Amino acid sequence: MAELTEIIAADRLGEILEQSLYAVAEAGEDITPHFFERFFALHPDQQAMFFQPTVSCGAMVNEILESLIALAANEGWVSTSIHNLVIAHRCYGNFPLPLYAELLDLFIETLADLAGDRWSAEFEAAWRQTTAELYTLIAHAH
Ligand code: HEM
Repeated sequence: MAELTEIIAADRLGEILEQSLYAVAEAGEDITPHFFERFFALHPDQQAMFFQPTVSCGAMVNEILESLIALAANEGWVSTSIHNLVIAHRCYGNFPLPLYAELLDLFIETLADLAGDRWSAEFEAAWRQTTAELYTLIAHAH
């Protein structure tokens, strides 16, 4: 994951993430197929791990997004939820920790790609900061 140069204050983080999602939404596209297209292009072997992709892929993108937004808002439920999800994922397969980091990077890349010219360095920094926090929770539970 990329190094952070400047920490964005907690009271601004949520607002920046929200603004970035408006930029993403202007593309008028569902995030899920774009995200998984990227993920499966880099890890074709992973596609077979998704037994119910029509349900689980959307649920996964939703959960990642919701967890990140909630983390930025300092909501306390996220650490327990992520702990449970990481444990649940042991039943789905053997996913090494670096794959989680990569997946979070791909998530940001997907958002940036959909936003196109509307993406900014501030949006990028805000997502990097929040995904780094999510990754710390994942690493604790892994
Ligand atoms: C290394 C990274 C990850 C991999 C390879 C992975 C893979 C998978 C797989 C194989 C499934 C089951 C799909 C099926 O049976 O159709 C699944 C389900 C799911 N994943 Fe992930 N996942 C990862 C990270 C995450 C993260 C970070 C979150 C949320 C923060 C998440 C949330 C979910 C959710 C909500 C489901 C639906 C089922 C459930 O509630 O357990 N996943 N994931």
